[in-house]
Amino acid sequence: MATYLITGGCGFVGSHLADALLARGDAVVVLDNLSTGKRANLAPEVRVIEGDVADPDAVARAMAGCAGVFHLAGIASVAYCNEHWREGHLTNQTGTVTVFEAAARAGRVPVVYTSSAAVYGDAGTGAVDEARVPRPQTPYGVDKLGSELHGRIAMGVHGLPTVGLRPFNIYGPRQDPSSAYSGVISIFNSRLAQGLPVTVFGDGLQTRDFVFVADVVRFLLAAMARAPEVAGQVFNICTGRTTTLLALIDTLAALHGRQAVVQHAAPRVGDIRESLGDPARARDLLGVTAGVTLEDGLAALLRGM
Ligand code: UD1
Repeated sequence: MATYLITGGCGFVGSHLADALLARGDAVVVLDNLSTGKRANLAPEVRVIEGDVADPDAVARAMAGCAGVFHLAGIASVAYCNEHWREGHLTNQTGTVTVFEAAARAGRVPVVYTSSAAVYGDAGTGAVDEARVPRPQTPYGVDKLGSELHGRIAMGVHGLPTVGLRPFNIYGPRQDPSSAYSGVISIFNSRLAQGLPVTVFGDGLQTRDFVFVADVVRFLLAAMARAPEVAGQVFNICTGRTTTLLALIDTLAALHGRQAVVQHAAPRVGDIRESLGDPARARDLLGVTAGVTLEDGLAALLRGM
């Protein structure tokens, strides 16, 4: 049994990861500023420290005695970070460096952290692999890429093993639908459940590689298990399958047994047109793939599992 720190552990992905760690017999400490996460997402045995990931004292305190750190805290919305440039930078990049520095000082505790597929920017048609030159087109993507650059030099300068993960679009139970900045599946699912129209920014033919949260947890655990061998590297978290927003709406509406009412609005600034990942590198080096199909994942979402 080991103790792991999850930053942002009260949130959507972090709380699922906490469940998986507890289920295999590990202990979990969470650092979360509760800006979007909820204590109620976690089992009672999880120790929660309320604090910010850009606060070095809070991070050092949370990390004491931990065998590894999953750094998931961050502002997940690309659109929110467009509108709150400095706030996004402080959390998404300074926060990551704060975690790296604390982990180095705490005895080179391995860190698995979430970057993002947003580092690629608009990569055009076809699946992107990790060798693609990153061209982020929003502050959010730039801060994730900056975090990766720090992660890559962490071993050489500080002897700190880090593994970066680039999730594509994550969905599943506990993704909060309540804000305009929430993930699109959580918003569409909640609106369809209430019989309300959905708003599509742009023509709806933009594509995303939607990956179910339980698969994401498998990638996180595999990255931690192999951190010594793959230190300094980055991996896509994706399915390798692509879906347009309009097709997504059709699938979701069918699961709800309704006809969707679709309204269109102007596209978001910096919105990526096509997003599809190549899962080969994670499969080959981490031994993990995302097996849940969109239909199965959406059905699980509707069941609240
Ligand atoms: C998402 C993630 C981001 C992650 C990135 C990886 C969220 C909130 N953001 O960004 O953390 O790093 O993928 O690629 O999960 N849309 C609508 N109507 C809505 C809401 C959204 O049409 O009501 C559209 C957006 O314009 C966009 C697509 O749906 O084209 C997806 O948007 P969103 O879920 O916000 O995610 P990304 O911007 O792709």
